[in-house]
Amino acid sequence: MNDNEKIVLVTGARGQLGHDIVKELTNHNIKYIATDSDDLDITDEKIVKDFFKNHSISHVIHSAAYTQVDKAEVEKELNHKINVYGTSNIVNECMKHDIPMVYFSTDYIFGGEGSEPYHVDDKANPLGEYAKSKYEGELLVKKLSKYYIVRISWVFGINGNNFIKTMLKLAETKNELNIVSDQIGSPTYTVDLSKLIIDMIQTDKYGVYHATNEGFVSWADFAREIFKRTNKNVVVHNVTTEEYNAKALRPKNSRLDKSKLVENGFSKLPTWQDALDRFLKELNN
Ligand SMILES: NC(=O)c1ccc[n+]([C@@H]2O[C@H](COP(=O)([O-])OP(=O)(O)OC[C@H]3O[C@@H](n4cnc5c(N)ncnc54)[C@H](OP(=O)(O)O)[C@@H]3O)[C@@H](O)[C@H]2O)c1
Repeated sequence: MNDNEKIVLVTGARGQLGHDIVKELTNHNIKYIATDSDDLDITDEKIVKDFFKNHSISHVIHSAAYTQVDKAEVEKELNHKINVYGTSNIVNECMKHDIPMVYFSTDYIFGGEGSEPYHVDDKANPLGEYAKSKYEGELLVKKLSKYYIVRISWVFGINGNNFIKTMLKLAETKNELNIVSDQIGSPTYTVDLSKLIIDMIQTDKYGVYHATNEGFVSWADFAREIFKRTNKNVVVHNVTTEEYNAKALRPKNSRLDKSKLVENGFSKLPTWQDALDRFLKELNN
């Protein structure tokens, strides 16, 4: 199928990742329909069914999700409704119409044991409500014959809230911060990830992937690097996960092994430091 014949459905197009996916589809002149909760509420089975009946969709990039990790511990039903029931509505239509589906999952489906990077086939052990719902979503997507499950972590992009924006905001009023230093993972820049996803959907290399920017870092060191590169005078104190005491449990080891990307002919994403520099430039423009 050439690019002109594709009509890609993007769910959650107003979100951090959806926004850059749409930009990258535009750059490639690939036709798309960008939707959000206003025009395609994924939790409404009838709306989803009618949508697929009325449009000729070639691929789905499913970026819509409930993403508030701590709030999900309280809003359990809403989290489940969007991430599990909503995903199942999309999966059912992809199955009915034989449409390849991209699903974004998370490092949080792992328990965070040890210090070795997790391989794509390692056993899941999701700790919190959000993580459990994203893993349930994975299991639903795996019923399809054509899927790309892409596990990502610590996402940042121009269109939404993320750790970098939070740090820069805090730097306006604080000169000391306590940041968790025993969770190690990799940031993922939505611009870099979107390029990979558009490459991916033009292949039939289906399966489970890990995709983040290269390199591992703790949240505390990530914050230090943000302040260093933006000349902010903020002292970062290391705290443990237990001391920070967030509502949702999170894995300490969020390292993901990304070798499958290269094995299947895809390019690795640039380092997180390089991505951070480009994101800060994007923020300033
Ligand atoms: N952010 C991270 O650090 C991270 C890490 C790992 C994996 N992921 C995964 O990556 C994907 C994209 O994340 P993101 O950070 O871009 O999320 P985001 O910025 O929170 O965007 C999520 C989008 O989903 C939409 N949405 C929510 N409920 C919906 C519904 N019922 N029907 C249709 N759309 C709905 C939201 O629309 P409204 O604005 O209208 O609510 C929003 O546009 C998600 O699958 C997420 O689980 C994210």
